[in-house]
Amino acid sequence: MLMLLMLLFLMPPENNSAKQQQDDLLVLTVATKETEGFRRFQRSAQFFNYEIKVLGLGEAWHGEDDKKTAGGGQKVRLLKSVLEEYADKEDLVILFTESYDVIFASGPAELLKKFKQAKSKVVFSSETLIYPDRRLEAKYPQVREGKRFLGSGGFIGYAPFLSKLVADWEGPDSASDQLFYTKAFLDPEKRESINITLDHRCRIFQNLNGALDEVVLKFENGRVRARNLAFDTLPVLIHGNGPTKLQLNYLGNYIPQTWTFEMGCAVCGEGLKSLKNLTEDTFPMVLIGVFIEQPTPFLSQFFERLQKLRYPKRRIQLFIHNREEHHLSQVNTFVNGHREEYRWVKVVGPEDRVENADARNMGIDLCRQDPVCEYYFSLDAEVALKDPDTLRILIEQNKLVIAPLVCRLGKLWSNFWGALSAEGYYARSEDYVDIVQGRRTGLWNVPYISSVYLIDGSILRSQLTQPALFRSGKLDADMALCHNIREQGIFLFVTNQHQFGHILSLENYQTTHLHNDLWQIFSNPEDWKEKYIHENYTAALKGKLVETPCPDVYWFPLFTDAACDELVEEMENFGQWSKGDNTDTRILGGYENVPTIDIHMNQINFEREWYKFLLDYIAPITEKLYPGYYTRTQFELAFVVRYKPEEQPSLMPHHDASTFTINIALNRVGIDYEGGGCRFLRYNCSIRAPRKGWTLMHPGRLTHYHEGLPTTKGTRYIAVSFLDP
Ligand SMILES: *[C@@H]1O[C@H](CO)[C@@H](O)[C@H](O)[C@H]1NC(C)=O
Ligand SMILES: *[C@@H]1O[C@H](CO)[C@@H](O)[C@H](O)[C@H]1NC(C)=O
Ligand SMILES: *[C@@H]1O[C@H](CO)[C@@H](O)[C@H](O)[C@H]1NC(C)=O
Ligand SMILES: *[C@@H]1O[C@H](CO)[C@@H](O)[C@H](O)[C@H]1NC(C)=O
Repeated sequence: MLMLLMLLFLMPPENNSAKQQQDDLLVLTVATKETEGFRRFQRSAQFFNYEIKVLGLGEAWHGEDDKKTAGGGQKVRLLKSVLEEYADKEDLVILFTESYDVIFASGPAELLKKFKQAKSKVVFSSETLIYPDRRLEAKYPQVREGKRFLGSGGFIGYAPFLSKLVADWEGPDSASDQLFYTKAFLDPEKRESINITLDHRCRIFQNLNGALDEVVLKFENGRVRARNLAFDTLPVLIHGNGPTKLQLNYLGNYIPQTWTFEMGCAVCGEGLKSLKNLTEDTFPMVLIGVFIEQPTPFLSQFFERLQKLRYPKRRIQLFIHNREEHHLSQVNTFVNGHREEYRWVKVVGPEDRVENADARNMGIDLCRQDPVCEYYFSLDAEVALKDPDTLRILIEQNKLVIAPLVCRLGKLWSNFWGALSAEGYYARSEDYVDIVQGRRTGLWNVPYISSVYLIDGSILRSQLTQPALFRSGKLDADMALCHNIREQGIFLFVTNQHQFGHILSLENYQTTHLHNDLWQIFSNPEDWKEKYIHENYTAALKGKLVETPCPDVYWFPLFTDAACDELVEEMENFGQWSKGDNTDTRILGGYENVPTIDIHMNQINFEREWYKFLLDYIAPITEKLYPGYYTRTQFELAFVVRYKPEEQPSLMPHHDASTFTINIALNRVGIDYEGGGCRFLRYNCSIRAPRKGWTLMHPGRLTHYHEGLPTTKGTRYIAVSFLDP
């Protein structure tokens, strides 16, 4: 018993000694507001178990903002008053640091070790650039290696010496702390008595200003550090001083262990907000701003997806800006069909002549001025949001400003920038391609987002109250918005944790046709497929669902109803049906043996697109169904035929001038017409109930002599192509 007690007495419990070690170090910082930058600092400190004391929270800030050289005196005043408490604590090491634009890259043990190795009582961070007074340069001691000038954003020292350093501060809050500390350092007597040195080689402090080329991310064994290449050091604190906030944001996407190759994103699950237990009528109120700023393909699909967002419509207010005459009817169809489902719908149309930036400001204002508006969700019409949970996911991520990553399919063009050029335009960050292509997934603090994003409504009524957020000098609307948000120290996030959707290519969209989307097979092939290719085509491609109604005649689903309807309407809109004569100036030789009443694809300038369609959707299936035959899907004749009892009801038996033929039914028997169908004479085999959107595929010459059976009522349309003539 006695032995045991003695042991306990001799060996203090371990956690106690750890605590004691911690007590040797105290981190002091000044922050008057809890900005996102401050919370990032705090998180990095907590990650390494630093003990922090925050000075000035809730106080009004009297200094200038840190972009100007003056200001900062308030920090010295606050430090001075708190140091009075610690003036006699000889073993206490105090780290004073900025916090809005600082992150810790390593823990207290390394910090203390490096401080002790510096063999000085006070160590200041060093700078490449001298400020605020360049005339002081001559007074600076020469250095053999490293940075020569003092930076006041971070310093570390023993409490009594720091106390001495600030003891004679009497300046106003608006005076420069940087100048004050510089003068102390440049005074040889003070430098010696307070024993001040600079961290010339960035072993402890890395100021990024003037040093961007020196600093790179270093991934090693599941850890991430910033490495200073000039001095081969791994600084403990990284400070985005001056105009380097964006670079700090970039580094902060990784440091400390925010994202690693081994673990992925460590912060993505932090501070989430859950919508799970909410009843429909308690969902946050969202104002969705929809922007149709230029002619945009697949707009009906856009509205369908909007309708399918999994979010209670009674909690959505819709603001639509349509600048295009061309889209009037699509917008009207949507609004008239669904107005009642939403809380309200407001449309600003082309007749209102509102410019892009002004329309976007209107959308923001509608949310800002309505205290119940909890979120503003901006959505441009060229964004194809495939994930109906996008809005929920963004809300649950609980950020002030956040965009879902969307990009052009197969391209590097996306709705965010990883970096800005010196002029404020696009620059590629080192991780841009990996993020766009999903090799790094997570939550990224970036300088620019556009096209689709969510803004917390409350900041529109607090930090972002300036009237025209989408205006700033000559910047484009979106660049102006991002600029104005960044100016307030608010972070812009983009998340690529899900596949949210993509951005359409608008480059080759022409509005000269009735159904312009049909021509989009080159520019937006995926969207074209979604709209026009039958949902069971893929099954047919795998050999399922393919029927053989007659020998060597295949029958499978190919077109959606939209494809059929739009092609017919396009032809009717064009209207120049042939007369059904043997004379046909459209073809080589000018003579047609078996004339139909038809319009050729090239008459509506659709042959390139039709060829691409045949290549993408017919060639692969041909190779499946006629093994060993490789089609080049070449054609001279591809056309839509119209059969009507009073015009041309049927077609006499004939061979096609093709190796094989496809014959797509474009409307419905029994509804749009009666009769019709196709009969193959050699087999005495008829297909009397063609299915809309399904195609027949059969050999052309030789075996498959066939006729078009009479249409007895209504109008029947088919799209026929003679392949490999
Ligand atoms: C600080 O003190 C150490 C000895 O403790 C000395 O070697 C060093 O030169 C001093 N530095 C300055 C700047 O006075
Ligand atoms: C939702 O409600 C269930 C049951 O009331 C509860 O167990 C759960 O913790 C709630 N979840 C959230 C995220 O509030
Ligand atoms: C696709 O095939 C499935 C299963 O055969 C069927 O239920 C569905 O209706 C088909 N889709 C269309 C659009 O015909
Ligand atoms: C063709 O088939 C039909 C029934 O489908 C039959 O009535 C007719 O006699 C057949 N004609 C010939 C020439 O075999």
